Amino acid sequence: MSYTASVVGASGFTGGELLRLLDGHPEFEVAQATSRSYENKTVGSVHPNLRGMSLRFSSPEELDSVDVLFACTPHGVTMDHIDAFREAADTVVDLSADFRLNREEQYDEWYDGHDRPELLSESEYALPELNRENLAGADLIASGGCNATAAILGLKPLFDADILSGDEQIVVDVKVGSSEGGAGGGEASSHAERSGVVRPYAPTGHRHEAEIEEYLGTQVSFTAHAVDMTRGASATCHVYPNGPVSKGDLWQAYRGSYEEEPFVRLVAGGSGVYRYPEPKAVAGSNFAEVGFEVDPRNKRLVVFSAIDNMMKGSAGQAVHAANIALGLEETAGLEFTGMHPVGAP
Ligand SMILES: NC(=O)c1ccc[n+]([C@@H]2O[C@H](COP(=O)([O-])OP(=O)(O)OC[C@H]3O[C@@H](n4cnc5c(N)ncnc54)[C@H](OP(=O)(O)O)[C@@H]3O)[C@@H](O)[C@H]2O)c1
Repeated sequence: MSYTASVVGASGFTGGELLRLLDGHPEFEVAQATSRSYENKTVGSVHPNLRGMSLRFSSPEELDSVDVLFACTPHGVTMDHIDAFREAADTVVDLSADFRLNREEQYDEWYDGHDRPELLSESEYALPELNRENLAGADLIASGGCNATAAILGLKPLFDADILSGDEQIVVDVKVGSSEGGAGGGEASSHAERSGVVRPYAPTGHRHEAEIEEYLGTQVSFTAHAVDMTRGASATCHVYPNGPVSKGDLWQAYRGSYEEEPFVRLVAGGSGVYRYPEPKAVAGSNFAEVGFEVDPRNKRLVVFSAIDNMMKGSAGQAVHAANIALGLEETAGLEFTGMHPVGAP
């Protein structure tokens, strides 16, 4: 059986990635791709890699009736249009932050409030490594933020294995590529301004701090840097556990959490050039690489996590969650392993 899908906000970066994934998915057929700016233009005119797709952008005001609607729109759009989205589709997967947090007060604190707080308890967080058991049959799914996804994937095994209990100091430092800012990223993401930078852009108070805290149940100190790459988010987490932890303890913890996970690769030392996670190694794929080291001298653990922000950090995560929600093969449409060698992702 195949399912029909709409991509709302299909002219943007994550929308383009969703079209690419759904076009190659054995169980999905793309019925509609919306854009107000490019109405009636072919999707290939905006996404050159999709020139072979025979589909034109249409207006988000006239939604087709489909099985799954993926909303790839800026923060605030889905909460404003959620009734229309749910009327058009049995399952809505939102890539924005609109339904990621669980309480209205969090939106008051970290965003500009929430228009439909009564729906927050209905949504399921899309990250399967964290919330697989609640995704089956879910009809409102909130895909995670890319920085938060990288950080959560890196840190979660430490909580699963009780190496951390929640009162330890955790510092998360994320480096992220320019596509995180979307197709209309603005001056800071223009080539001339972005080229060559390692620029702290959110030293404190980044909104993803709230998301990490929500899903790990502990406070983290988060800083983000904009760096000179197109795709990728790379999280380095500095963790200060209360007692001694060996590299063997870490292998056991990370294998325990991820051995069965189809999209997590453990990369923690060894030989060669690629000894720890790097965004280059996962570019274009739905894989996350996670690794770790022990620093006994400073009683510190260092955890690394690398994802493609537009795949595991958004469109790939959204399709993975939809696969689970619909009872499809989890990995369907997501098997691409990445490329090597590859230029700057
Ligand atoms: N980029 C990333 O790495 C990333 C990672 C995780 C999550 N996200 C989240 O995913 C969402 C999309 O991000 P993006 O990077 O793909 O953004 P983007 O490139 O700026 O694309 C936004 C899309 O939404 C459409 N749109 C804007 N306002 C709209 C409205 N009021 N009604 C209907 N459509 C509207 C735009 O097309 P028209 O204006 O032509 O309609 C465009 O297609 C955001 O919420 C973002 O925070 C992004």
